[in-house]
Amino acid sequence: MGVTKNISFSYLEFENADELPASDRELISTALNAAGLAYAPYSKFRVGAAVRLESGRMVHGSNVENAAFPSGTCAERTALAAAVSNFPDDSPVAIAITAITENGDIAESVSPCGNCRQVIAEEETRRGKQIRIILCMKKKIRVIESISLLLPLQFNMNSLRQDPPSQ
Ligand code: THU
Repeated sequence: MGVTKNISFSYLEFENADELPASDRELISTALNAAGLAYAPYSKFRVGAAVRLESGRMVHGSNVENAAFPSGTCAERTALAAAVSNFPDDSPVAIAITAITENGDIAESVSPCGNCRQVIAEEETRRGKQIRIILCMKKKIRVIESISLLLPLQFNMNSLRQDPPSQ
């Protein structure tokens, strides 16, 4: 008989951005601007992400779709790839994510997809620094202290290194 193991996690939820520190509000507004720059003619779901680096710098990105659907890229990965490739020594410490729907409203629900969680987790693991996830939705803002909470039991570089080398 197996043993039941539980995983639970807590996050903060705010009704209003005014309750957040100024640097988070700035990150959200950068993500919102980035959503407006998205190329999403197929889904019409324009996503924006803004990464805060340890130095304080912000790097934004949006989803970039393609007629060949799998070739499109999510906003989170666009922003992170830009941050990591342009500022390789500056660790990401937070990412704000938001989206604009077809009717121009901020989306009711926003959450990074599985692929993006894995990519955010790579940065968190390799740098040993938590990345705060700020999800800005129409009626609420969620703040999650680490991507590991959104990707429990994750496969990462430590999973590859667990066996001693064979002689
Ligand atoms: N998308 C993102 O950019 N980020 C997410 O976390 C979820 C989905 C994009 C991909 C696609 O361009 C559109 O939203 C609809 O799935």
